[in-house]
Amino acid sequence: MRLVILFALGLAVGAVATANIVSALRQHDAYPRGLMNVMQHDLGALRTDARAQRCDAEATASLEQLRGLSGSIETAVYGDDPPDPPFAEYARRLRATLPATLDCKDLAQGLEKVGAACDACHREYR
Ligand code: HEC
Repeated sequence: MRLVILFALGLAVGAVATANIVSALRQHDAYPRGLMNVMQHDLGALRTDARAQRCDAEATASLEQLRGLSGSIETAVYGDDPPDPPFAEYARRLRATLPATLDCKDLAQGLEKVGAACDACHREYR
């Protein structure tokens, strides 16, 4: 009887510990994943705008949001720790591909470079 109770207690403690660890891991990833997904959304919106040749205030807002978010990549992934130098370089290159102003004429081409900068980091770090 005592063994059965001990066994059940062990199972319960194990289950609670596992749930805690899973939840901690999920929270740890929430910031980088959220940031990445919003950047993905902005990039997609800009691609649609480029196709429709729509360089309006909304498109400008997407670009500015993408620029703002791209400035937080290192913090989102590394927190207070210093990022891997190559990682920081990929993030810097992404920021450098973002057009300074929204110009419908070159937008589609410019976005290709942005997408390539996203992929370059993903190949190594995702
Ligand atoms: C400097 C590196 C770096 C750059 C640049 C970068 N990413 Fe990421 N990305 C990552 C890492 C690391 C992950 C994995 C994050 C995780 O799962 O915790 C990731 C994951 C993602 C994901 C999956 C998120 C999820 O829910 O699992 C998407 C979508 C994404 N990135 C989109 C983008 C887009 C769009 C860009 C360019 C505008 C971009 N990323 C630029 C490093 C980068």
